[in-house]
Amino acid sequence: MRTAVLIALVAACSAVTVKVPTQQTGSLRAKLIREGKYSAFLATQHAARIQQLNSGSQPFLDYYDDFYLGNITLGTPGQPATIVLDTGSSNLWVIDAACNSQACNGYPDSGYTKQKFDTTKSSSFVKETRKFSIEYGSGSCSGYLGKDTVSFGGLTIATQEFGVATHLAEVFGYQPVDGILGLGWPALAVDKVVPPMQNLLPQLDAPLFTVWLDRKLSISNGGSGGLITYGAIDTTNCDSAITYVPLTSKTYWQFALDGFSVGTYSESKKDQVISDTGTSWLGAPNSVVSAIVKQTKATFDWSSELYTVDCSTMQTQPDLVFTIGGTKYNVKSVEYILDLQLGGGKCALAVFSMGSGGFGPTWILGDTFIRQYCNIYDIGNAQIGFAQAHHSF
Ligand SMILES: *[C@@H]1O[C@H](CO)[C@@H](O)[C@H](O)[C@H]1NC(C)=O
Repeated sequence: MRTAVLIALVAACSAVTVKVPTQQTGSLRAKLIREGKYSAFLATQHAARIQQLNSGSQPFLDYYDDFYLGNITLGTPGQPATIVLDTGSSNLWVIDAACNSQACNGYPDSGYTKQKFDTTKSSSFVKETRKFSIEYGSGSCSGYLGKDTVSFGGLTIATQEFGVATHLAEVFGYQPVDGILGLGWPALAVDKVVPPMQNLLPQLDAPLFTVWLDRKLSISNGGSGGLITYGAIDTTNCDSAITYVPLTSKTYWQFALDGFSVGTYSESKKDQVISDTGTSWLGAPNSVVSAIVKQTKATFDWSSELYTVDCSTMQTQPDLVFTIGGTKYNVKSVEYILDLQLGGGKCALAVFSMGSGGFGPTWILGDTFIRQYCNIYDIGNAQIGFAQAHHSF
């Protein structure tokens, strides 16, 4: 009964909307022209159209210059979540309020509590029967899919499909993370879910986003430390000179690396590399990590299982030099040596080994690289741009 009435109403309404506007516009135009107000009217209409397209930005929350997160809200009314804005994956997921494992609640000694998503408290949430499961380098998560409103950076996606995690790997319980928002390409998305960025594109001035990561030097635990800008190039925090390189794959943000050097070591082997905001450090082949260790005179610290150097050398070690598309990009030691409060005057080399080859990219340019160069993720032109980042220290 109600359905029948509804269908009748909808039919009536759509009949009306087809006819009335054209008639009204015609008579309105005639009226405005008669009164000499037509050009002013057109100008407002034009302005309104321009305003429909926009850009947005949100700060990164900086943990030890090592971990950069962003805030989003989901559902109606909006529930907050602090998530990884991750260019190395393409799905959004948050934690189900119904999950009460230690990983979902956050380990008490981690110092971080979780903001979970309560689907029963969102009037716009639509649960699906489909399941999802994602493997990351650090661990896995799984649960079911659903749809709801998602907002971030002052922008709103009315209907976004995402994962509601009912199982999380232990590692997430130790991180200040309530979920992950993937900014990679659709081909990388699990279950063929359309990534948030693709759903945002129609609203944006330009089909791209800019990542700027700040370097604080002083210890930061969740303070503002960078900016992600959707739909525009960040001209405030990034140098105006941008160099672009084409992508070699539209899965990860992947491109070719032509060579690398540090101190007296240099190599010119062509390799595949990805730009990944969700990886804190620089991932490099074994041989390169060994070279960096040797050139910086780092030692392996067995208690922290990290390569460390004396913190006093933070600003005086040789640059890491990457050759990409014929341009040399220098990452200074102040960017790749981090004070993680290890004690004993020791600072960490923000570098890790990717092993000695195999499938896929052999390098990951994580936050270590992105701190030095703003990355412009240009979806429209399938390219990535680099511009020197301005820092607050
Ligand atoms: C991010 O969210 C947390 C928790 O909801 C809040 O305490 C913090 O102020 C937010 N930060 C920003 C920059 O919005």
